[in-house]
Amino acid sequence: MISKKLEKVLNDQLNFEYYSAYIYFSMVAHFKSEGLMGFANWMHVQTQEELCHGTGMYNYLIQRGGKVALHQIPAPPLSWKSPLAAFQNAYEHECIVTKRIHNIAAMAADEKDFALSNFIQWYVSEQVEEEANALEIIGQLKMAEKASGALFMIDKDLAVRAFVMPPIPMGGLTPGAVA
Ligand code: FEO
Repeated sequence: MISKKLEKVLNDQLNFEYYSAYIYFSMVAHFKSEGLMGFANWMHVQTQEELCHGTGMYNYLIQRGGKVALHQIPAPPLSWKSPLAAFQNAYEHECIVTKRIHNIAAMAADEKDFALSNFIQWYVSEQVEEEANALEIIGQLKMAEKASGALFMIDKDLAVRAFVMPPIPMGGLTPGAVA
């Protein structure tokens, strides 16, 4: 059974993952309004991934005899002044997520909760990818500032991103199916 301290920190994090989904889902709406359908697609895939991240923790907490506590989710921003500003926001947000995941890993190690240490390791690796993905697109967007038509090309590239269910047990829940 998971300790009360670890139950709380995992509950806080699963709510934060749903908050991440909320931010990216707001970016979907923003990019759709701007006619940037490739950017919207990329953020939609990101939204689905975040729902899976949160639900993986939700399912894990139940498996460990913990109680899932859903919190109120703060309202995300409605718009960003440019695609670059949105991806900078995404990158900064992911850096915060990384710190939080590392904190959970450190707390699990302190408590010698080897099961949680093992579970959270996937999230530690995932965060390396999350930060790198945002940084790569930030780099492309910075170059695009100097070349007309480049934004259109990036939008086309981002349109091909497809959702792949992460390898986290979901307990029969399929949040990746969000429309
Ligand atoms: Fe669930 Fe983007 O970290």
